[in-house]
Amino acid sequence: MKFFIDTAEVDEIKKLLDSGLIDGVTTNPSLIMKSGRDFIEVIKEISALLPKNPISAEVTANDSKGMIAQGSRLADISSNIVIKLPLTMDGLEACHYFYNQKIQTNVTLCFSSSQALLAAKAGATYVSPFVGRLDDIGIDGMEIIQSIVQIFANYASLTTEVLVASIRNPMHVITAAEMGADVSTIPPSVIHQLVKHPLTDKGLAAFDQDWAKTGQTL
Ligand code: G3P
Repeated sequence: MKFFIDTAEVDEIKKLLDSGLIDGVTTNPSLIMKSGRDFIEVIKEISALLPKNPISAEVTANDSKGMIAQGSRLADISSNIVIKLPLTMDGLEACHYFYNQKIQTNVTLCFSSSQALLAAKAGATYVSPFVGRLDDIGIDGMEIIQSIVQIFANYASLTTEVLVASIRNPMHVITAAEMGADVSTIPPSVIHQLVKHPLTDKGLAAFDQDWAKTGQTL
């Protein structure tokens, strides 16, 4: 499974660059707002840091014409920019336009299998079901991942990748991997949680102490 990092904080991306764990980046208007930075500058910096990896940048227009105009400007920044579009009829129209232009898209704000199926039929490169926000309203977000993965597996013509978004904890990532989702986009805090285990810390402390007792150096 590919790991994308879900952030507009360039420093958080830099911290993980050497780990080999990051296959791409996703941003959205709320993450840009939290960064307090200029959208275009941030996208340019991120795409330069990971020039061969997909970087999702979201349009803010709500009509297909506006989405196409904004998306085309974003796509001009770099060939690794993926145009993020909302799962509305206008978003699907813009998605199909970019599909014909051979420009990658990420159809976002997906909350049902039917929406995901439409995104795939419109030619989306990725569809982003939001699992955490479904959990928040008492619906098991991971259930729709299972359903979407199964639907896409039934038809070789549906090549859209399932990008699990709105991830809130390590179990979302593990369950997505068990279900065979293509990508998880993960907030930096959850990536750091994934590596932690108290027995690893305890074991390492014990090895350090015992090594010190040997008086040896390596
Ligand atoms: O990139 C979109 C997504 O991951 C949003 O997450 O936590 O705002 O629901 P969240």
